[in-house]
Amino acid sequence: MRLYRVLASLVALGVVVQAALVAYGIAGLTHWIYDERNTATRATFEEDSTVDYGGKLGFDLHGELGALWLPLLALAFLVVAVVTRRSVGHGLRFAGIVLGLMVLQAVLGFVALAVPGLAVLHAANALALFSTAAYAALRLTPSPRAIGSS
Ligand code: HEM
Repeated sequence: MRLYRVLASLVALGVVVQAALVAYGIAGLTHWIYDERNTATRATFEEDSTVDYGGKLGFDLHGELGALWLPLLALAFLVVAVVTRRSVGHGLRFAGIVLGLMVLQAVLGFVALAVPGLAVLHAANALALFSTAAYAALRLTPSPRAIGSS
């Protein structure tokens, strides 16, 4: 039960970190252009670009965490929810919702690069993901079956 709570909390924390990384990326890029009077071109953002526009680390980490590590964390959360399903009431349901929202979040992240308007859904879904994971961590009650068997 404790591991279930820890993983749910880590997912919620991950969303906060993702928001912070994007905020840092945008602030760094804006500062680099306006205050340091640099000019951004397509080459600035190419994957092999060596130009560090200040917030580059924020965008890079956001992509790496978002495309790989956070979806893996949500998957691990689901596995733990399967293992602890007898002791955590409705725990599997919440872990399933968290994984679904996480996959949607990553997909929206990539789609938003092609259709910027969809970034609105990426941000809104992040709030749904945070709320669900935080609720899963806080609401923990033993399942009725676990109570009955004790
Ligand atoms: C668990 C939460 C999140 C996940 C899994 C996630 C995932 C992703 C992914 C996979 C991308 C494409 C990255 C790339 O092309 O390298 C992306 C881009 C983006 N995300 Fe998120 N994201 C999350 C939370 C957030 C939040 C909370 C915000 C801001 C409110 C945000 C704003 C953006 C923006 C502005 C982009 C486009 C810029 C960029 O490429 O970094 N994301 N996200």
